[in-house]
Amino acid sequence: MSVIAVTGIGLLATQDPELGELRDAAVLAVDGRVTWVGPSDALPEGAGEERVDAHGRCVVPGFVDSHTHLVFAGDRAEEFAARLVGLPYAAGGIRTTVEATRAATAGALEAGARRLAAEALASGTTTMEVKSGYGLTVADERRLLEIAGRLPATVATFLGAHVVPDEYTDRPDDYVDLVSGPMLDACAPLAAWCDVFCEDGAFDVAQSRAVLDAGAARGLGLRVHANQLAHGPGVALAAELGAASADHCTHVTDADAAALADAGVVATLLPAAEFSTRSPYAPARRLLDAGVTVALATDCNPGTSYTTSLPFVIALACREYRLTPAEALRAATAGGAAALRMGDAGRLSPGARADLVVLDAPGYTHLAYRPGVPLVDAVVRGGRVVYSRRATPDRRGDQGAP
Ligand code: NIG
Ligand code: FE
Repeated sequence: MSVIAVTGIGLLATQDPELGELRDAAVLAVDGRVTWVGPSDALPEGAGEERVDAHGRCVVPGFVDSHTHLVFAGDRAEEFAARLVGLPYAAGGIRTTVEATRAATAGALEAGARRLAAEALASGTTTMEVKSGYGLTVADERRLLEIAGRLPATVATFLGAHVVPDEYTDRPDDYVDLVSGPMLDACAPLAAWCDVFCEDGAFDVAQSRAVLDAGAARGLGLRVHANQLAHGPGVALAAELGAASADHCTHVTDADAAALADAGVVATLLPAAEFSTRSPYAPARRLLDAGVTVALATDCNPGTSYTTSLPFVIALACREYRLTPAEALRAATAGGAAALRMGDAGRLSPGARADLVVLDAPGYTHLAYRPGVPLVDAVVRGGRVVYSRRATPDRRGDQGAP
């Protein structure tokens, strides 16, 4: 049995609707699950083999990044630079990464994904969704999902319908047949979710529906890249099919928002993609006002959003979506968990995973108030300290070591 106590928490933002925010709190976890949350002075004396002292600072649940494309090769810095001088983003850029990814060894792909996962952990992410989608052959998509499955604390999504690969340009419906048949047969056992990029330049609504139906028939939950570049049918399709999440939602109408709310579909908003593609920002307030559950995620990928940092995303959401810091934190924790239908993540209350972040700050408002500054002091995942800033070389100097 392993027991860990996190004590001296100045502010604990539990994200549990009943517990709310606690001051001078402690958290106790046994074998990776939270068993007790309460006032520090009520923690039983001697509880916890392992102790983490938060020294009066703020503790939040580990971030749940419910939308990433972590497994790929190469980068697209030139495409990004071209956008800075006015070129628009188009879905076709995905093919550049497909070419590099197909040419890379599995070892190189896994090393790259692990580097990004470590980066995400150091910024407080304890659960990550990871999509395939840069292979686009049966073997390459499988390879990406195998790698995703080897990363710690990840949930895998099949995104064979990311874009039509070059070799199918003249016969896109044949590619849809491949994805809906043999590719899903090979990939579904390695994934929990099926996603599709429903957009002009990627897949139309009929093609998207075919892929999603085929994914559902194989037991996968559904998610949709919807309404990213323009208003389109993706959000309505996600609502109609009862997807867990409609992602991007940059261009949505009031009717779309009502459909998401009625169907209980989470709107996963990706402001770092909007930042990096210089697109308008999603109408987050309108979605919240319509009663939609909102999640915030990074969309980490080399084309539209090459960041692993949910603190950066939270800062953008506060500034550009006009979310309060409390709303943004909720969306990056409990919201992400809702988007992945994980009832035991994104909150700190008995029964939840013992995944938490000690911030080097008195409150979570600092995540937006101090943008770009690394504020994560320690990360506990599954009841173990898996990251500590004190252990990194630049802090060792503080402690007198070389
Ligand atoms: O979520 N929109 C589709 N997929 C990614 C972009 C992928 C790429 O450009 O490589 C996204 O933004
Ligand atoms: Fe994406």
